[in-house]
Amino acid sequence: MLIQIPPSSACREHEVTPEAIYLSRRRLLAAVGGLAAMAALPGRAQDASAYPDVEAAQAPAWFADKLAATRWQAITPGNEAVTPFKDATHYNNFYEFGSNKGDPARYAEKMRIEPWTVRVDGEVAKPGAYSVEDLVKPRGLEERIYRLRCVEAWSMVIPWLGFPLADLLKQVEPTGNAKYVSFETRLAPDEMAGVRSGFSLIEWPYVEGLRLDEAMHPLTILAVGMYGRVLPNQNGAPLRLVVPWKYGFKSIKSIVRISLVSEQPRTTWESIAPQEYGFYSNVNPEVDHPRWSQAHERRLPSGLFSPNIVPTRMFNGYEEVASLYAGLDLRKYY
Ligand code: MTE
Repeated sequence: MLIQIPPSSACREHEVTPEAIYLSRRRLLAAVGGLAAMAALPGRAQDASAYPDVEAAQAPAWFADKLAATRWQAITPGNEAVTPFKDATHYNNFYEFGSNKGDPARYAEKMRIEPWTVRVDGEVAKPGAYSVEDLVKPRGLEERIYRLRCVEAWSMVIPWLGFPLADLLKQVEPTGNAKYVSFETRLAPDEMAGVRSGFSLIEWPYVEGLRLDEAMHPLTILAVGMYGRVLPNQNGAPLRLVVPWKYGFKSIKSIVRISLVSEQPRTTWESIAPQEYGFYSNVNPEVDHPRWSQAHERRLPSGLFSPNIVPTRMFNGYEEVASLYAGLDLRKYY
């Protein structure tokens, strides 16, 4: 998503998952195939051990306490294979830590995620400041296995653990003036080489936004985990947004502030290049990016000699959101 440097913007093949992973690709695919078969069994209870290639993590008590009662998703979308954990955690966009796909895995460990406070404010009757534990404790965790489609035309299938954003928004009681929700990422230059570098066009902190009805949609979640464990830092620990029908850049990571506002908020990529990245950014195979087609995507893992190209679907396959945009010209409001 770098601007005006086309070869960097489209994902380049040599940036794709490290060679070692491809050397063991057969093993990974066998493992993932097994998972897909298991996931397809109706009613089969899963747990973290369902994901065989996961790097274990020390879970805080608030997370571990919730796992036993977690509602696991039985079936992957379209019975598509879940992306190997290694790809989902080593091919990332998190510009605070650099612009190469491997930078977040290499450097995000430096981010201090404990203690963590999320401020919820603006047009709400009950503003507040919460730890992640405060947010998770009163509610259960759900697994949502969603497609993630990046605007750069690669995609993955990721099993998230989280809760509907609507649950939190209802708790703080939006006022009649609340029309949009804006989100802000932690800004800590001493921990974030990408912020310090001065090469980025991004005006930090990274910010994102949704219309209130999009934020309240049951598919929109706040995630605290993936693959049955807590979120790795490079994937947006300890709390990130996941909006599966929109391009991945809307799914802002490591959130410290959620504000209910009356006007459409500034968002990072739209403010850098409004002709390329819109506020809505719904996945749409019929509206190309000015510099590349959005009709297809590379489903990872996808290598130079074994490309895995699949057609992109309207709303990333989540057609149930179409009614949110009735009467809206999606070519104009891209
Ligand atoms: N959030 C922040 N704070 N900074 C970022 O650079 N990148 C976005 C999004 N959230 C980004 C971010 C983009 S472009 C994508 S595609 C997804 O995160 C990638 O999520 P993943 O690395 O977990 O796959």
